[in-house]
Amino acid sequence: MTPRRAAVRTQSNSAEAVPLLAVDGVTKAFRFRDRPFGPRQHLVAVNRISLTVAPGKTVAIIGESGCGKSTLGRLMTGDVAPDTGQVRIEGRAVHALTRLEKARIIQPIAQDPKAALNPRWTVARSLGEPLELHRLVPPKERKAAIEQALLRVGLAPEIASRFPRELSGGEAQRVTIARALLVSPRVLVCDEPVSALDAAVQADIVRLLLEIQSSEGTALVFISHDLQLVSRLSHRIAIMYLGEIVEIMPAGGLGGVLSHPYTRALVGAAPRLGRHPRKARRATLTGEVPSPVDRPSGCVFHPRCALAAEVCSRTSPGFESVGSDHLMACHFAGREQSAFGSAEATSSGA
Ligand SMILES: Nc1ncnc2c1ncn2[C@@H]1O[C@H](COP(=O)(O)OP(=O)(O)OP(=O)(O)O)[C@@H](O)[C@H]1O
Ligand code: SF4
Ligand SMILES: [Mg+2]
Repeated sequence: MTPRRAAVRTQSNSAEAVPLLAVDGVTKAFRFRDRPFGPRQHLVAVNRISLTVAPGKTVAIIGESGCGKSTLGRLMTGDVAPDTGQVRIEGRAVHALTRLEKARIIQPIAQDPKAALNPRWTVARSLGEPLELHRLVPPKERKAAIEQALLRVGLAPEIASRFPRELSGGEAQRVTIARALLVSPRVLVCDEPVSALDAAVQADIVRLLLEIQSSEGTALVFISHDLQLVSRLSHRIAIMYLGEIVEIMPAGGLGGVLSHPYTRALVGAAPRLGRHPRKARRATLTGEVPSPVDRPSGCVFHPRCALAAEVCSRTSPGFESVGSDHLMACHFAGREQSAFGSAEATSSGA
């Protein structure tokens, strides 16, 4: 067992006795050719990730584009199989579940709701299909169940006869949420569910998801770029960088003094989160994200880290606890935290 996995287990044991969803040491690589007949490339999208989700709680996953958030979401829903490690839902390996069993426990909510709906199906048919597939109601009660499902997400029953092209983005996202809720799932994996919507509609959809969580006890995995949003709606936040979780913490700690250098740099780029100490806001993120095809040795963040020392390029850091329910993968976690602010401020010209 690597130190990274051991530390995450410790945390999950203390915070959640029986995790609803457990991702345990999961790695996923893709093989592809970047040109016809070219050499096969090997890209590690998710590397040794462990994470738990408790009933009724929200875990946010944040990180830059391409860091593996969606792949992790698809591993959770069982749409992608891990190369190593395991995803368990209610203690059962996700890949041992049938498609229908899986669908009744965990449902995805996608970024592009119109793409998630069959363009040739009316809303009624899109909602009717899971009712039929899972034998949730007798055929003669299906129409009433569809109307009920639409009302539940704040849509008028008349919308049932429309096609996806006849819906606004917000209406279409409500339909996909209504469809997911038909089976009363215990977990919703929301992959940037509001990023394609305007601000007012975003707020409506987020409110709806939170209402569902409080009335049904649904757990949410919320994948997002929006630090403001996730710090408001999450219980825990996992920060991903180049396929790895580098920090996981209670939402209130986002970007505070005791934060991973990468998290602090991300927060530094989102100044409206600026309730943190002045120096923490000055941390900057410079340079490009390295290619997941050619991952840096040691700490994957070391080529961009203002605090990198010689050990960082040699050895991958394990997780260390730096506070209650707060883990960080950094060689200097908990030891030189007080130096983080001043070193970063210096490196960014403060
Ligand atoms: N089927 C695939 N084949 C090859 N590479 C893939 C495949 N799916 C994802 N990738 C690669 O895996 C890496 C992680 O992709 P992923 O979509 O999980 O990132 P992301 O964090 O969700 O990005 P974004 O924020 O832009 O949605 C990327 O480099 C991506 O190009
Ligand atoms: S291990 Fe080193 S390179 Fe990685 S975040 Fe910590 S200080 Fe930076
Ligand atoms: Mg994505």
